Amino acid sequence: MNDKLLEIEPKRIRLANTPTRGHWLRYGETVGTKIWVKRDDHTGSELSGNKVRKLEYLMAEAVDQGATHVITCGGEQSNHARATAFAATQLGMRSLLILRTDDPTRPPAPTGNILLDRLCGAELQWISRPAWRDRNRLLAEAADRVRAAGGRPYVIPEGGSNALGSWGYIRAMYELASDLEGIAAPDHPVTVVYACGSGGTGAGLILGAKLLGLAKRGIRVAGVNVCDDAAYFVESIGRICADAEERWQLDARVTPDDIVLVDGHVGLGYAKSRPEELETIRDVCRSDGIVLDPVYTGKAFHGIVTELRRDRNRFGSAVAFVHTGGMFGLFASSEITTVL
Ligand SMILES: Cc1ncc(COP(=O)(O)O)c(C=O)c1O
Repeated sequence: MNDKLLEIEPKRIRLANTPTRGHWLRYGETVGTKIWVKRDDHTGSELSGNKVRKLEYLMAEAVDQGATHVITCGGEQSNHARATAFAATQLGMRSLLILRTDDPTRPPAPTGNILLDRLCGAELQWISRPAWRDRNRLLAEAADRVRAAGGRPYVIPEGGSNALGSWGYIRAMYELASDLEGIAAPDHPVTVVYACGSGGTGAGLILGAKLLGLAKRGIRVAGVNVCDDAAYFVESIGRICADAEERWQLDARVTPDDIVLVDGHVGLGYAKSRPEELETIRDVCRSDGIVLDPVYTGKAFHGIVTELRRDRNRFGSAVAFVHTGGMFGLFASSEITTVL
């Protein structure tokens, strides 16, 4: 990062293997557009994916505050919750995960991320889908319980998506700026495309791109939302960016026009797969030997491919896809076997 930003960068604990590498995908040839991939699925093993970049800042704050317990929430197969549980364990703290499921009285089988949550000793609190609306109150109540028992809680919101967490992808955008040297140019624009679930990754990438003036270098940013819709994310990403700009006096000036979502690829809904999405996961694995997950990266990648089949110049002269991880989610169901 540049010197000015390094001065104001919040404290960070190294948890991720960064910078991550990138490479071209053979799969791009089948759609007639060059696709480059940044391997953020390689940020670690237990702590893999995009969440660990955010946790570097969030956990640094937890440590500074002398936290004994880290509390967060997510869907039943939340990658963020699993990464948080492992980061907490690695740093000598306990973790409490509030997880959403159909019937909290009959929690899901310990597969995929849930298996790992339990393996590392996270305490799990199951809540129903209607109760999810009250997640922030439930997080606060869990924190009260920890305090009442003499502990010191640190609460991380859904997806680690707040102003502090967004620094993870501000930093990643600095990596991307050098990754894309010689690939992107004003007359060869490249779009950095990411899967958008709670907005923190997008907020960081957009802030980073603005701070570095990357539009002038032909680098654009677009998210494929895997839930909700574009209007929802323009609002939520906008809020995270505004918070970060205010808190660290960042001269990014993000406007709604900077927040680009490629909407229309949610399909059957969050964490629900259509056969064609599973086929794309299979085909990318067979052409390039990389594994996408059904909830985020597979769905987003299928969205990119669908757009490119309509217009192969949709994202400029190349796509730079951020592979944000999530592989453990693939092991939560045998659905992928239907396309093998
Ligand atoms: C594998 C993976 N990719 C992408 C995302 C989306 O990131 P964000 O929540 O920052 O929008 C998530 C989490 O939600 C994830 O687990």
